[in-house]
Amino acid sequence: MLEYTNKLREPLQALIDEASRINTYKPQKYWYPLSMATYDVEEVLAAVDSLCSFRTTMWEKTAEFECRFAEVAGSTEAIMVNSGSSADLLIAFALVNPHKKLLAPGDEILVPSVTWPTQIWSAMMAGLKVRLVDTDPQNLNMDMNDLESKIGSRTRAISLVHLMGNPCDMDRVVALCRKYDLVLIEDCCESLGAKFRGKAVGTFGIAGSFSFFFSHHITTMEGGMIICGDQSLSDLFRLLRAHGWARNTKYMHVESQDDMDPRYMFLNLGFNVRPTELNAGFGSAQLRRWPAFLAQRLQNVTYFQSYLNSHRDLMYLMQVLPDAECSWFALPIMLTPECPFKKADFLAYLEGQGVETRPIVAGNLARQPVCQLYPELQEANLPGADAIHELGFYLGLHPFEAKSNLDRLAETFEQFVRQSI
Ligand SMILES: Cc1ncc(COP(=O)(O)O)c(C=O)c1O
Repeated sequence: MLEYTNKLREPLQALIDEASRINTYKPQKYWYPLSMATYDVEEVLAAVDSLCSFRTTMWEKTAEFECRFAEVAGSTEAIMVNSGSSADLLIAFALVNPHKKLLAPGDEILVPSVTWPTQIWSAMMAGLKVRLVDTDPQNLNMDMNDLESKIGSRTRAISLVHLMGNPCDMDRVVALCRKYDLVLIEDCCESLGAKFRGKAVGTFGIAGSFSFFFSHHITTMEGGMIICGDQSLSDLFRLLRAHGWARNTKYMHVESQDDMDPRYMFLNLGFNVRPTELNAGFGSAQLRRWPAFLAQRLQNVTYFQSYLNSHRDLMYLMQVLPDAECSWFALPIMLTPECPFKKADFLAYLEGQGVETRPIVAGNLARQPVCQLYPELQEANLPGADAIHELGFYLGLHPFEAKSNLDRLAETFEQFVRQSI
């Protein structure tokens, strides 16, 4: 960091404090919002430093963040991109790239029915044939029995998501991949820090994607990361990230050619989904806060869970497998089928009381209007995803000490419950 950047610390801190005091970020409507700003002066200084030193495009701050993120995520290689969706996109295109020949266009890939849609779009854009697998309403992850029943002669891969930070049953997934010789990729955009039997999510398959959108576990404003354990695959991601341009590779030996200027040599096709140095500097500062964020999120969930447990007949928090360590992304709540009140009435009440709510991402993806355009998304029999669509919703979960807010949230729930049963 430039020496003089530090001189900005005090005025910037004053600016941030003032913005927090007048609450520029969130509409006054919500006292319990979906997300809150998790960055402070360190992140802003890192970004200002890049601007003032004229080093704004992908450079050493990106390399440093990648290196530290790989360690935190339990991997050897990390490649930063401009969003989690871009990370998913590059992983899908790497699968069908002739450099690796892992899959061929037209091969079938099994995908979750409840997830953020760009996980599915990326596979479709890469020419893979997607098939939706049902979702377990207890843990919001792929229904393992439906997953196995859908593996057919054309199935070559599984694209998992560890939704809301909840690790899938990796014993079963890995066993299925071995048994049927399937390639595994993992969307960890909501699950930084989650583990199964002590092993980090994103390291079970050939690659894992992460998102650093504003409301995620750590933020770089917008941003994403791919992790993988294979050097040659990591170089393929570097090529796909930036034009297919040779100069971006780390390990690959590039043969010189008499007729070719090495400065502009292209080894593969590629996009331009590079991050900026501002994003990467932000990310490194956020990583320093990360252990505290993770612990506080867990503490807040545990606290609120003790309230929800008193209403197990009406609603429940997403269930975590005994061998899994969940890295709670939010507070995902399911009403039970026996619950006497309607989800729509409950959510309208919560919103009216200043509690921001969301559906469990896209609900049953097969019910989204986009599916009318793509027959492969029209999967009729997804009872678990339907249950999540109809009975599930989520609230924010903040990485700050929040006991008084959680008490107020429990009291707000309680008032509705008392008048509705
Ligand atoms: C499961 C999942 N996958 C992919 C993404 C896409 O990430 P981004 O918003 O950074 O593009 C998200 C974003 O919220 C997500 O939740």
